[in-house]
This record gives sequence, C-alpha cells and structure tokens, in this order.
Amino acid sequence: MNISMKLPKKIYNWMSLAGIVLAANSLLVIIVLFLFSLFTDHNNSYLGLYIYIIVPMFLVIGLLMIPLGVVLKIKKQDVETNEGNWPVFNFNNPKFRSGFFTISAITVILLIISAMGSYQAFRYSESVEFCGKLCHKVMEPEYVSYQHSPHARVACVECHVGEGAGWYIKSKMSGLYQVYSVTFKKYARPIETPLHNLRPARETCERCHWPEKFYSRKLVNIRSYLTDSANTEWNNSLLMKIGPEFSSQGQTEGIHWHINKNFKIEYVATANDRETIPWVKMTNLKTGEVKTFMDTENPVEKAKLDSLPVRTMDCMDCHNRPSHLYNSPTFYINNAMVSGKIPKDLPYIKKAAMEALKITYTTSDSAMTQIDATVMNFYKDNYPDILAKEKGRITAAITAIQDEYKVNAFPYMRADATKYLNHRGHLESDGCFRCHSDRHKTEKGETISRDCNLCHVIINQGPTGKVQTSSTDKSLEFEHPVPIKGAWKTSFCSECHKVLYE
Ligand code: HEC
Ligand code: HEC
Ligand code: HEC
Ligand code: HEC
Ligand code: HEC
Ligand code: HEC
Repeated sequence: MNISMKLPKKIYNWMSLAGIVLAANSLLVIIVLFLFSLFTDHNNSYLGLYIYIIVPMFLVIGLLMIPLGVVLKIKKQDVETNEGNWPVFNFNNPKFRSGFFTISAITVILLIISAMGSYQAFRYSESVEFCGKLCHKVMEPEYVSYQHSPHARVACVECHVGEGAGWYIKSKMSGLYQVYSVTFKKYARPIETPLHNLRPARETCERCHWPEKFYSRKLVNIRSYLTDSANTEWNNSLLMKIGPEFSSQGQTEGIHWHINKNFKIEYVATANDRETIPWVKMTNLKTGEVKTFMDTENPVEKAKLDSLPVRTMDCMDCHNRPSHLYNSPTFYINNAMVSGKIPKDLPYIKKAAMEALKITYTTSDSAMTQIDATVMNFYKDNYPDILAKEKGRITAAITAIQDEYKVNAFPYMRADATKYLNHRGHLESDGCFRCHSDRHKTEKGETISRDCNLCHVIINQGPTGKVQTSSTDKSLEFEHPVPIKGAWKTSFCSECHKVLYE
C-alpha cells in the first residue's frame, strides 16, 4: 500500500510538506530521546525538558503547518478558478474519501500521542528534577539543602503547590514569572523569604502531619565541641515538650499548644523577616478571653504598630526551615565531629574550622582554596609541631570541612545560615525568644515565659566522662559549658552565639 498515493493532491504544497518533514522529524527525535532516557540516568532534567516540552512544540508547529498549507492552497486555487470560498466535501469521489480517512486516522493517532505527551509534560513540570535542577545555579541552595533534610523524599510540589487545579495554575503563573526573572537575571540573591505565595502551611503540612495525632515528647541529644586544645566534648540531652505528657491529651499543653484549634495567636513584626516582634495577641476562641502582650523593652509607637500587617501564627513561624536547612558552621562542624568525619582528637581542629568558616566567601572555588589555606596557616602560625605530626589528618579534616560547607552555604546565591535564620530554637538566632522573652507583658504584667523548663527538660549535661543526669521529669539547672558569670540568665543566647560568617 502506498500511502502517498492516497494523500489529497492539495497536500503537495511547500508549507504542508515542510510541516510533514518537521513533524515527522520531531516525532522521531522524541522517540529516540525517550528510548535513550530509558537506558540512562533517570534524573537527567534536560532530557525531560526536550522530550516533554521543547521538541513537542516543534511537533505541534509541524502538524499545524500541514492543514494551513492545504487551506492556503485551496484559497489560491479558488481565486484562480473563481469558485466559492469553501472546500467541496464529496464523499463519492474516491480520492477525496481515501484522503479524508487517511488524514483523520493520522490526526486521531497524533491526538492520543499528544494527550499522553501533555500528561507527561504535566508530570514532568511537577517533578523534583524540574523544580530543582533546571535553573541550576539559582535553585542550587534549595535543591542541595533539601536533599539533606528530613523531607528529602517529599516532592517540591507537595509543599509548594499542593492539590487542586487552582493551585496548579497559580504556581505555573508564578513559574512563568520565575522563568522571566531567571532569563533576565531579575532575581534577588538570596531569594527573599518569607515566601508570600506559599500555600497556607496548615493545608500543606497537615496532609501528612495529622494534627489530632500529634506527638507527646521527643528526646533530643546534642553534642558540641569547645574551641580548646582538646576540643572538649559537651553533652546536652533535652526532652522536648512537643505535646502533653500523653499524646491522647491532644494539644492542650506543650509546644504544639500554639496550633490548638481553640486558640489563635496573632503577632506583628517590624520587618519582613519577622525577626522583631513587638506585639502579640492571644485569643481563647472558646471563652473569648484575650491577652495582648507588648515588648516593654523595645516599645513601638501605636501609629507604627497600627500600620503593620497582623499575622496569625502557624507551623511556619517555628518550622520555617523544614526542607531548606542551611545549618550554621557551629552546628555542622559539631555534627561532623560526632560522626567522625572530622577527627575529634585532632588538637584545636574545632577552633581552626571556626576560623576558616567565619569568613564570608564570594565564590565556591575561593571558599575551597581559602578554607584549605586558613586551616593550614592556623596550624603553621600557632602550632607548627602539631602540623608536622598530623599533616595527613589535618588534610583529611580540611576535605571534610569543605564538604560540609558545600551543602550548607552557597556563595553565588548568597544563601547560608545567616540569611535564612531558623526559628526553631533560640541559640544562634532568637527564634522562640522573639516572643518568649519575659519582656513581652500584658497590662497586668503577665509575660510570655522564658522559663528554661517551659519547653524542655534538661536530663543530661556536661563534658563526656562527667555528665550529670536527672530523672526524666525533673530538669537539671542549666550549666553553661564555659564560665560566663550567669550571663545566660539575663542575656539572650544569640547575643554571644550569633551565627558566624562575618
Ligand atoms: C517540606 C516542605 C517543602 C519541600 C518538600 C520543599 N520546600 Fe521549598 N520551601 C518550603 C518552605 C516552608 C519555605 C520557606 C518559607 C518561608 O520562609 O517563607 C520554602 C522556601 C523555598 C524557596 C525560597 C528560598 C529559601 O531557601 O527559603 C525556594 C526557592 C524553594 N523553597 C524551592 C524548593 C524546591 C526547588 C524544592 C524541591 C527540590 C522545595 N522547595 C521543596 C517548604 C518546602
Ligand atoms: C508529603 C508528606 C509531607 C508533607 C506535605 C510535609 N511533611 Fe514533614 N515530614 C514528612 C516525612 C515523611 C517526615 C520524616 C519522618 C521521619 O523521619 O520519621 C517528615 C518530618 C518532619 C519533621 C521532623 C523533622 C526532624 O527534624 O526530625 C518536621 C518538623 C516536619 N516534617 C514539619 C513539616 C512542615 C512544617 C511541613 C509543611 C511545610 C511538612 N512537614 C510537610 C512528610 C511530610
Ligand atoms: C511554637 C512553635 C511550633 C509550631 C507553631 C509548630 N511546631 Fe512543630 N515542633 C516545634 C518544636 C520546637 C519541635 C521539636 C523539634 C525538635 O526539637 O526536634 C516540633 C516538632 C515537630 C515535629 C516532629 C516530631 C517528631 O517526633 O520528630 C513535627 C512533624 C512537627 N513539629 C510538625 C508541625 C506542624 C505540621 C505544625 C503546624 C500544624 C507545627 N509543627 C507547628 C515547634 C512548633
Ligand atoms: C509569636 C509569638 C510566639 C512565638 C514565636 C513562640 N511562642 Fe510559645 N507562646 C506564645 C504565647 C502568646 C503563649 C501563651 C502564653 C500564656 O498563656 O501566657 C505561648 C506559650 C507557649 C508554651 C506553653 C503552652 C502551655 O500552655 O503548655 C510553650 C511550651 C511554648 N509557647 C513553646 C514555644 C516554642 C518552643 C517556641 C519556638 C519554637 C515558641 N513557643 C514560639 C507565643 C509565641
Ligand atoms: C519557648 C521555649 C523555650 C524556652 C523558654 C527555652 N528553650 Fe531551650 N530550646 C528550645 C528549643 C525549641 C530548642 C531546640 C531544640 C533542638 O535543637 O531540637 C532549644 C535548645 C536548647 C539547648 C540546646 C542548644 C544547642 O543546640 O546546643 C539548650 C542548652 C537550651 N535550649 C537551654 C535553655 C535554657 C538554659 C533556657 C532558659 C534560659 C531555655 N533553653 C529556654 C526551646 C526553649
Ligand atoms: C556572654 C556570652 C554568652 C551567652 C549569653 C551564652 N553563651 Fe553559650 N557560649 C559562650 C562562649 C564564649 C562559649 C564557648 C565557645 C567555644 O568554646 O567555642 C559558649 C559555648 C556554648 C555551648 C557549646 C559550644 C557550641 O558548640 O555551641 C553551648 C551548647 C552553649 N554555649 C549554650 C548556650 C545557651 C543555651 C545559652 C542561652 C541560654 C548561652 N549559651 C548563652 C558564650 C555565651
């Protein structure tokens, strides 16, 4: 059977023929790339972009050119023969009949293929590779930090889009703007947070973290190393009062009390970063009782307060870094020492690492060379004897420091722990202490408490070998690892512990 014999004559015009060639070639390319993708790395984002978006666009253009060419030719002939404007449908004409059925069959097949293709395009545009890898440099911080977070197996869209066509369209519209801003370099570095177009936290997070089934308590073990010659190992075990003593008691007390449906906590922040909170209002929705707390030490004029937007507290006010965790140098070096990636018995290694990491680097390459040089010079200038004896282990430690830096700080986008403060805690930024300051007071003088036993029970603390322990329900009195004359009782921890990188 010779198909070309059955095609209507009018298809032999340059535009339709070019369309056929373009469409056929695109289809071939798609098939070849698709087969290729089956046998290669599944996570190749560029391949997906070609298979599902770019080449199909040429396929569609080719397909559109075929009928367009036919119509143009008919029009031209009509002008020449002076017939009516409309094509004549004559099913008694065998040539017309076979042409009509051939074209209809091809159209149906292509429609099925393109429906499948657009579903794939939809799926692809929702994939982690699409979100994380396409604008490589721009999304690198989010993508890399995400892979090291507790949500590494939750797709970007699960938090950033959520279910329903409305949010899909909304996110693609903002996606179009992002393509524009990446193409013309209009994006901010770092990307500004808090994000305002994020779907409400309670809608996204609660799909997986069912609030009625919340947790009671959680044990958190932390090991830190001091910057002395022995890298003295300091232990803290905290029993976090996430919920009440028994989880069946719901959110009646403890940390997740804030999301109890019977209470509403609103606040005002002086700036977009939500770091400084001068005004907090708590409403008991059952009894109607209201308490308003004002920061008595840093008061803000009423006119200014009234002009600032009021926000209702949700998951994001504590878990603002559930997935893009830019850890601080103190934190990740401590952890690398606990896991043994950095030898903890290498004298002064904690101090040397901190020296190298308090510098702000402008490129990843300069960070790598400078970290190496700073640690080496630290030993060369201060402890040449240690360097002579431990060169091999120091070199290995430098590699580990560089590896940690690479997954936590991103010079090109200027994304790191200083730019994206974590609100879940109070050591290196104020976090909970933004409200729990003992300085926020009602008119009657009630405060939002900073009592060390409100949120956790300290059940272990001290240097390894001399750890004090307590029974689980009675907290130890906090002991600061180095003598600071009880300054932690009056000052916020962050006053001395602010995230490094100067
Ligand atoms: C567990 C939920 C979750 C997942 C999964 C997730 N994100 Fe996010 N993302 C967030 C939250 C929450 C914020 C910050 C909200 C804020 O501070 O306003 C955020 C912020 C961002 C930002 C703004 C800059 C920043 O670092 O805060 C970008 C860009 C981003 N996400 C991209 C991604 C990409 C790409 C992926 C997948 C590789 C992803 N997200 C996966 C929850 C998530
Ligand atoms: C698609 C499901 C899903 C969504 C949506 C989701 N999470 Fe998770 N979350 C998980 C899983 C799975 C874990 C890991 C549980 C584990 O390690 O035991 C987790 C762990 C966590 C943890 C514990 C982390 C830790 O340090 O151990 C927190 C906190 C958390 N999620 C908060 C959030 C917040 C806030 C949001 C909304 C921005 C959110 N999650 C959205 C599935 C989800
Ligand atoms: C007042 C601050 C605050 C709010 C609001 C809050 N959380 Fe938490 N949440 C915490 C703290 C603190 C922890 C303990 C984390 C730790 O120390 O590891 C925690 C723990 C968790 C955990 C981990 C439990 C485990 O056993 O590992 C999940 C999951 C979680 N929160 C989800 C949510 C979700 C979802 C919301 C919103 C519906 C929410 N949280 C609102 C502060 C908060
Ligand atoms: C926006 C302000 C705000 C922030 C931020 C905040 N809280 Fe609270 N918190 C409150 C208010 C208001 C109360 C209620 C005070 C009262 O009842 O007198 C409260 C009460 C509590 C309680 C006692 C609940 C009970 O009745 O058992 C705990 C525990 C707690 N917060 C933990 C935390 C932790 C942990 C964080 C940080 C991760 C945090 N809060 C961050 C405003 C805040
Ligand atoms: C409003 C709740 C709240 C109050 C009040 C509070 N903490 Fe915490 N604390 C937290 C949270 C949340 C964390 C983070 C736990 C984690 O990292 O999983 C934390 C962490 C810590 C840590 C571990 C720090 C580290 O990373 O090495 C210590 C030590 C600590 N708190 C001591 C104190 C002391 C001392 C006080 C009293 C001055 C206090 N806390 C008051 C909520 C609170
Ligand atoms: C007056 C300043 C000051 C205040 C306030 C302060 N610290 Fe410290 N802290 C220090 C110094 C100095 C060190 C020793 C650092 C070193 O050896 O590298 C330290 C070390 C630590 C360490 C162990 C080292 C590490 O890796 O982080 C912990 C844990 C700690 N402090 C917790 C706290 C907590 C919790 C608070 C608040 C309740 C607090 N500190 C308040 C000055 C302070």
